[in-house]
Amino acid sequence: MNNKAAQSAWSMALQNNYGTPTIQLDHGFGAEVFDVEGNRYIDMLAGIATNILGHAHPDVVQAISEQSAKLGHVSNLYMHQPAIDLAASLKSMVGDSSARVFFCNSGAEANEAAIKLSRLTGRKRIVATDGAFHGRTMGALSITGQSAKRDPFNPLLKKISHVPFGDTGAMRAAVSRKTAMIIVEPIQGENGVVVPPVGYLAELRSIADSVGALLVFDCVQTGMGRTGQWFGYEHEGIQPDVITLAKGIGGGLPLGAVIAMGPAAEYFQPGSHGSTFGGNPIATAAANAVVRVIKAHELMPRTLRLGAYIADSISAVPGVKEVRGQGLLLGIVLQAEVAKHVNESLMRHGILANAATSTVIRIAPALTITEPQVDQFIAAFTATMKELIADG
Ligand SMILES: Cc1ncc(COP(=O)(O)O)c(C=O)c1O
Repeated sequence: MNNKAAQSAWSMALQNNYGTPTIQLDHGFGAEVFDVEGNRYIDMLAGIATNILGHAHPDVVQAISEQSAKLGHVSNLYMHQPAIDLAASLKSMVGDSSARVFFCNSGAEANEAAIKLSRLTGRKRIVATDGAFHGRTMGALSITGQSAKRDPFNPLLKKISHVPFGDTGAMRAAVSRKTAMIIVEPIQGENGVVVPPVGYLAELRSIADSVGALLVFDCVQTGMGRTGQWFGYEHEGIQPDVITLAKGIGGGLPLGAVIAMGPAAEYFQPGSHGSTFGGNPIATAAANAVVRVIKAHELMPRTLRLGAYIADSISAVPGVKEVRGQGLLLGIVLQAEVAKHVNESLMRHGILANAATSTVIRIAPALTITEPQVDQFIAAFTATMKELIADG
């Protein structure tokens, strides 16, 4: 099999919602992957912020293997230890004894659950932000603030409004005593790693409190250590009512979670919500391994150090306007609308990244990426930009 043959087999069998990718990956280890032709890449995207410990991490492989040999699936009619352990870990991460966890399989499902939870306040209105991405299912799409993704699927949920991200005045004006929840990403990932002004998240806490609305932080992309803290909002010193998680938590396995605190922790009662596969033993065993490794290897402070090093080095490359983000979720903002071209060229230099918008290259590598791999990325990025400038 080569990449061309794989493309033709893919396009003959799969729907076209992702287009046809250019390479087929075969195997990987850590932050390195190989395609079916044996080409090596440094994976600076990690399954779009998902393979938080990289590919085939021995502890994750062992956890999955042992659990699948023991008990693969039990439904939600029975308890199992990996889910209890993971929920207890998440609870201790948020540091709130009232916290309770619901498990699902993905980010969209986590946000769907948050929407349903908010309905149990007795209110219906939701305020979200322009540019936000919360998932592709109908509820999650309704709170997503990108009309190109939403419009073909109208009508969506009613009573949802969007205000500019980072604008506390607009948020204050949009909420009322009818608002059930405010939902915001601590950093907008899909929208090009957009970081709000310092103090924004804390101000949202006081706006939500002023009208008695739930404050929900969608930490699907910013959670599980990626920004150098467990959840992407902690630097603001406040606590939301609800956190939604997915991506990194399962270390590559499908897993989502909703952590609710205070009164919201009690809203779901038997029959309110559910998921057959949500929080299954294998995915939660993998997640427990992820948590153990992040703690044992002190990966979060390392993530901050590496992120700052990458941002400093890449900011100095000609053609780069700025590097924004936190920890290992970074958006490289280019001076021209050439992100797609740069991304293709990076691939030829053995780097997997993502053109999040026409001007932004997003990187979100494994927290375990090595220093030499980071330097190879910086060298390849610099060479790519030099070529681009030389070609005019
Ligand atoms: C912040 C955020 N929320 C929700 C989602 C949707 O997650 P999923 O694709 O697992 O449904 C994403 C995916 O990129 C995301 O970045």
